[in-house]
Amino acid sequence: MLEIQNLSTHFHINSTKLFQKLTLKAVENVSFSVASNRVVGLVGESGCGKSTLGKTILGLTKSTEGKVLYEDKNLLSLSNREFLPYRKNLQIIFQDPYSSLNPRMTIFEILTEGLLHHKNIPSSEARSLSIAMLEKVGMKSDILERYPHEFSGGQRQRIAIARTLILEPKFIVCDEVSSALDVSNQAQVINLLNDFKSSMGLSLLFISHDLKIVSYISDEIAIMYLGKIVEYGNKSEILNSPHHPYTFALFSSVYDIHNRKKKRYVVKGEIPGVVNKPKGCYFHTRCPIAKDICKEVDPPLKNVSDTHKVYCHFPGEIG
Ligand SMILES: Nc1ncnc2c1ncn2[C@@H]1O[C@H](COP(=O)(O)OP(=O)(O)O)[C@@H](O)[C@H]1O
Ligand SMILES: [Mg+2]
Repeated sequence: MLEIQNLSTHFHINSTKLFQKLTLKAVENVSFSVASNRVVGLVGESGCGKSTLGKTILGLTKSTEGKVLYEDKNLLSLSNREFLPYRKNLQIIFQDPYSSLNPRMTIFEILTEGLLHHKNIPSSEARSLSIAMLEKVGMKSDILERYPHEFSGGQRQRIAIARTLILEPKFIVCDEVSSALDVSNQAQVINLLNDFKSSMGLSLLFISHDLKIVSYISDEIAIMYLGKIVEYGNKSEILNSPHHPYTFALFSSVYDIHNRKKKRYVVKGEIPGVVNKPKGCYFHTRCPIAKDICKEVDPPLKNVSDTHKVYCHFPGEIG
C-alpha cells in the first residue's frame, strides 16, 4: 500500500562550537513497505531518526532523497495542492496528548475540525459522527462541549485518536502514542488501535522505543540505528531469529529469545554521534562480532528469507 524507497532526510545545522555548517543525516537510504491492514513497528534508541522518518513519509519534514509511493504516486513529488486529496488518508498521532489538543477548542471542535476541512457535511452530521466516534474510543458522548484540560492524559490520547479516525484514514504514523501514559492507559490505547486496524482495515507505522508493545502490535518490525534500517521483517522471524547483532541485543534485553541456551547480550558503549557517524557499518563500534571489513565497508542488503532482510556482513552469526 505504501512503499518507501531510498528515503533520506538531512538537516543542515549551524555548529556554534565549530563555526561551520554541519549535515546531520537523520534518515539515510531507508526502504521498506507497509502493506494494507498491517502494522509495521519501528524501533530504535532515542535520536536514531524514528520521528524524522515518520514525518518525512507524510511530507511533514522535507526529504533529501527518495520516494514514498502511494496509489502509484510519489507523495514527495506532489505540490501542496496535489497532496491535498491524500492528506485525509495519511495521518499522524503524536506522543504528547497534552500539547496535541488545542486548549481553546471544545472536544466537538477538535473532533470535527479536520472532518469539516476535508468534507462538506452539515454540522448535525458532524455531531452524530463525533458521538459515534467517541463511543468507539470508550468516551461518553456528553463531553462535546468540554475542553481538553478537563481530561486525563489517557482520555486525551483517546480524543486524539478519535479526531484522527473520524477522517477514516488508510495509514497512520503512531509516534510513541502510548509512551506518555501509565500502563493501564497504554494497554487501552494499544488495544483501541488494534481494534481499529481490524475494523477499518488500517495500516500503521507504529513507532516506539518499547519493544514489548511493538512486539505485541506489529506484523512486521523494522530496527533503526543511526538513521538506517539495519533489519526488517516479519515479526516472528525477527523475534525468533534476529540476524543483526543490534537486533539480537535489543530484543535479548527484553526476552529470552531463542531458547535459554543462547546467552543474553547487552549493547555496550556509547551510541556514536549522529553527525560524526563511524565508517563502514555504523554499528561496528559496539558490535561484539565486528571484523575488519565492518570498519570499512557499508554492509549490503541480504535476504534472510522473502520476508526478512538484514544489512550486516555476518548476518546470523551472533546468538
Ligand atoms: N528539525 C530538526 N533540525 C535539526 N535536527 C533535527 C531536527 N529534527 C530532528 N533532528 C535530529 O535528528 C536526529 C533524529 O531525531 P528523531 O527523528 O527525533 O529521533 P527519534 O524519534 O528516534 O528519537 C536527532 O539527532 C535529532 O536531534
Ligand atoms: Mg521520536
